[in-house]
Parts: sequence; structure tokens; C-alpha cells
Amino acid sequence: MVLPGGGAILDPFAGGSVRGLVAGNGGYRYTGVDLSPDQVDANEDQAADWATRDLLAAEPQWLLGDAADVLPSLQRGAYDYVFTCPPYHNLEKYSDHPADLSAMRWKEFAEVYREIIAESVRCLAEDRFATWVVGEVRNSAGALRNLVPLTIAAHEDAGARHYNDAVLMTPSARCRCGWATSGARAARWPPSPVRAHLHQGRPQARHRPSAWRGRGVNGYELLARALAVPDHTPP
Ligand SMILES: C[S@@+](CC[C@H](N)C(=O)[O-])C[C@H]1O[C@@H](n2cnc3c(N)ncnc32)[C@H](O)[C@@H]1O
Repeated sequence: MVLPGGGAILDPFAGGSVRGLVAGNGGYRYTGVDLSPDQVDANEDQAADWATRDLLAAEPQWLLGDAADVLPSLQRGAYDYVFTCPPYHNLEKYSDHPADLSAMRWKEFAEVYREIIAESVRCLAEDRFATWVVGEVRNSAGALRNLVPLTIAAHEDAGARHYNDAVLMTPSARCRCGWATSGARAARWPPSPVRAHLHQGRPQARHRPSAWRGRGVNGYELLARALAVPDHTPP
């Protein structure tokens, strides 16, 4: 198991409410950060609805703001697990806000992304894990940006070693298109399935999450396994 019961989870790029609700339902203390006020409002509405239906053992919390500003204000070592899905550079643009990673040029994106990863590692307690769900992206000339190696290197530079990875195999037309074609057409799509990387906050492993070895799993399974939620059927 990656996370102790009732542990605290940090999600620097929260997006939708699902991770917060799943975590809160399982009694985990979830803190999500997002730049979008509409998204945070919608998440809070959903959490309020779950609370009225008695579905939350712990109330998830969403902090509105730039993860690069918010994370430094969080206490060192206060979290037991980081689970997040960051913008894949500009693959999907979320807003024109200057702090939105999806609106930045690659060089600035890479710099800020590294800083946020370093801060997220600082927020992790010792010997805990982080999962970053990332896929590869290409530049306008069709060359790989190497977002996946950047994610791994940024963690290692911050003192978290790369412990394991898992690949999400989705039988979607998008992925098949990416795999089956070459050249310009393939360049429009992520060239590889989404990967989830498990990083460890300290060199000496005490926890060995054996569930991670071997098979491909989807994002819900990743979170459910990390939280040891018995029924992890996606809503
Ligand atoms: C890939 S989405 C998250 C998607 C989420 N995993 C989901 O399934 O709903 C990335 C999120 O990062 C947010 N974001 C972009 N730049 C940010 C920043 N600097 N700080 C915090 N959130 C940011 C966007 O508003 C967007 O909601």
C-alpha cells in the first residue's frame, strides 16, 4: 500500500472533482490546487452534494491559485501522497491566464513545471510516493518534447527517485491513430499511451507497492490501488 489510512493527498493540478471525491469517500484528506475559479466552484458544489448524501468520510479541499505560488505556502512534509495529472504542455489549453502552464511557451513551461515538482516533493513526508499521470507531446516540427523524461528528471533533481511506472492502454481511436500512422498525422496525437510515474520521496524504500508491478492499469485503478479502495469501478 502506498498511503496510510486517513493520509493526506496533494494534487497540484486538480482539474475535476473525481480524485477529491474518491479520496474523501475513503477517508483521506485531499488538497487539490487549480487555477480555474469555475473548476474549483464546480468541485466544491459536487463535494457539497456528496456531503449532503453522506458520501464523504473526509471533506476534500480545493485551493484556488497557481500551484507555483500555493505549494510553497504548504507545510514541508505535510502530505503522504501526491497524485496529479498536469497539463501536457499545450496539448489542451485550459485558459489564457499567464500562470496557466498550458498557455506557456515550452521553455517557460519546463522551468515552472520543474519548480512545481520540486515543491510537491518538499511537501511529501519521508518515504512517501508521488504519482504523476503524464503523456508525451510533440513540438510543431513533430519532434518529441520529452515531457515524460522531464517529469522523471525533475523528481530526481528534487530528491525523489523513480520507483515505477504504469502504462494506461486505452482502446480509443485517438491512440490507435497515433500508433498506426506516421509522420505528420501521428504528430497531432500523443505518440504514446499515458504513463503514470511513481516517485519516491526518499532513497530507502520501506513500502513496496507490489500492485504496481506488471500490468497496465487505468487512472481510476491507480488511485484506487494507492488508496486501497476495494471497489474501484469508475463512476
Ligand atoms: C490535465 S488538467 C487536470 C485534469 C484532471 N486530471 C482531470 O482529470 O480532471 C490540468 C489542470 O491544471 C490546471 N492548471 C494549469 N496551470 C496551472 C497552474 N499553474 N496551477 C494550478 N493549476 C493549473 C488547469 O486549470 C487544469 O484544470
